[in-house]
Amino acid sequence: MVGGGGAGSGMAASLALQGPGFECGVQIRWLPGLAEACHHHAMDTIRTPTTAPVTHPRRVERLVAGQPTSDGAGVKLTRVLTQPLQRRLDPFLMLDAFGSDQPGDYIAGFPDHPHRGFETITYMLAGRMRHRDSAGNQGLLEDGAVQWMTAGRGVIHSELPEQTEGVMEGFQLWLNLHSADKMQQPAYRDIPSAQIPEHTAPGLRVRVIAGSSHGVAGAVQRPRTEPLYLDIHLDPGARLEQPLPAGHNAFVYVYRGTVTVGQTAVPAQRMAVLAQDAAADGVLLQAGEAPARALLIAGAPLGEPIAQYGPFVMNTRDELITAVEDFQAGRLA
Ligand code: FE2
Repeated sequence: MVGGGGAGSGMAASLALQGPGFECGVQIRWLPGLAEACHHHAMDTIRTPTTAPVTHPRRVERLVAGQPTSDGAGVKLTRVLTQPLQRRLDPFLMLDAFGSDQPGDYIAGFPDHPHRGFETITYMLAGRMRHRDSAGNQGLLEDGAVQWMTAGRGVIHSELPEQTEGVMEGFQLWLNLHSADKMQQPAYRDIPSAQIPEHTAPGLRVRVIAGSSHGVAGAVQRPRTEPLYLDIHLDPGARLEQPLPAGHNAFVYVYRGTVTVGQTAVPAQRMAVLAQDAAADGVLLQAGEAPARALLIAGAPLGEPIAQYGPFVMNTRDELITAVEDFQAGRLA
C-alpha cells in the first residue's frame, strides 16, 4: 500500500474516549459460563497449567474507528491506525484493513510505488495478491499468508489482485525501523499460511505471526522493535491471556464479533488502544456470545522523530527530501 489517501490529508482521527474501567484479576482462559462470573468478581483464580500468568492486565485507553479512504489506484480500505496515532503507537505507523466482495473496490490494486525507511507486513485472510519489486522478487499471497517486507533504503513494488471476483480481505501493517536500520538493504519474506505457527487450546486458536505466545515462537522475530503480531480466534466465551512487556505500545483490532478487553467491550471494526501502565503485565481478551477474531499487536517504541511523506518514513525532513530525490533519480529501482 502506498500511504496516501486519508493519512496525509490532515483528517482528524475519530477517537472515542473510554473511561478507565476497573480490572478483573480473574484468569480464565476458556471457561464459557464460568467466565461470565468474572464481571461479578465471584470467581477465584482458575488457570490452566500452561497459561502464562497475567495478574495485572492493561485497560483500554480509548476506542478508535478507522477512516474510510482509498489508496493506490483506487482501492477502498479502512485506515485504522492513522498518522495522528503514530507517536502514541510507536513503532507502528499505519494499519489498513481491506475487505470486500465487490471487485470494483480492490481490482485496481497498488501499481508500482516506492517505500523507504520501514517494514510492511501484509496479512491476507482471503484472496490472492501478487507482488513484484524492483529487486526482482515476486510472490503470490493467498488465504492466510503473510508477506513481511523490509523496505530499508528503498524498493519500488506493486501489489495487484490476481482475482476478478470473490472476497478479498486482509490487513497491511507498517512497522517503523530504527534510524540505524532505515538504510539497510531491502529484504522480504513470503510466509505461506501453513508456515505460521499456532498456539491452540479448547476454544482458542492463536496464529503467531511475530513474537511469541504461550511458548510458540512466531514466524518472524525482529530486534529493536520486538513486534508481537497475533491473529486470535475465539469461540464464544473463550479467553486468552497474553503477557506484554510493560513499556511496549499495544493495541487490539477486532474484526469479527465482540471482544472484551479488560472490562471494555470492543465491537468489530474498532481498535482498542491499550493503556500504558508500569505495573501491567499483559492483556486479557474474551469473546462474547458469538465467535470473535482480533489482531493483537505490540512492540517496543523507538522514541525517535517520525517524518513521513507518503510512502517514505524517515527521521528528518532532509532525509525525506533525499528519499524523493533518490526516487526521482531512479536510485530506488
Ligand atoms: Fe506498498
